[in-house]
Amino acid sequence: MIYDVIRYPDPRLETPCDPVEEFDTAELKQLVADMFDTMYYHKGVGLAAPQIGVMKQIAVLDVSLGEDPGQKIVIINPKIARQEGRIREEEGCLCFPGFREKITRAARVVVAAKDVSGMEIRIEAGDLLSRALQHEIDHLNGILFIRHMSALKRDLIRRKIRKMIKAGEWGPVVPGPKREESSVVKA
Ligand code: NI
Repeated sequence: MIYDVIRYPDPRLETPCDPVEEFDTAELKQLVADMFDTMYYHKGVGLAAPQIGVMKQIAVLDVSLGEDPGQKIVIINPKIARQEGRIREEEGCLCFPGFREKITRAARVVVAAKDVSGMEIRIEAGDLLSRALQHEIDHLNGILFIRHMSALKRDLIRRKIRKMIKAGEWGPVVPGPKREESSVVKA
């Protein structure tokens, strides 16, 4: 199933998620499969569970955008164990369609997490994967990418979105395929 993606300023996006306690269940496996389908449909390199309204510490990533199955990553209850360097690059978020800004992040990270079966995993990453991991782990802690911007940039984006909401150009979700025909939301 492909989910709608919640748009800012839904308060769930700024709420920290609960850790997963039960692993290897049919529900968890189905949710992860649905999160990959949703991420590919919306053309993201990462998707965190709160972006579809599931308040659990689960994220999926694939910086190959579905080109290379070996790049599929699931992180559950993740922590950044190490980080080094700084790098400033453009970044977007599925909850802010149309907005991209330069964000400073750690250049390289080591992430400690669990996989779907509850096994401990460690991921060492640089480049786009490092950025995507930091972005998704932020989501699980209720931190949006606008929090990494200057107050000026952040307020500008908030004002633009408020205007679009008033004009009916920014709905509560970016709809998945099942809603497209009937939806009144402009995407
Ligand atoms: Ni995001």
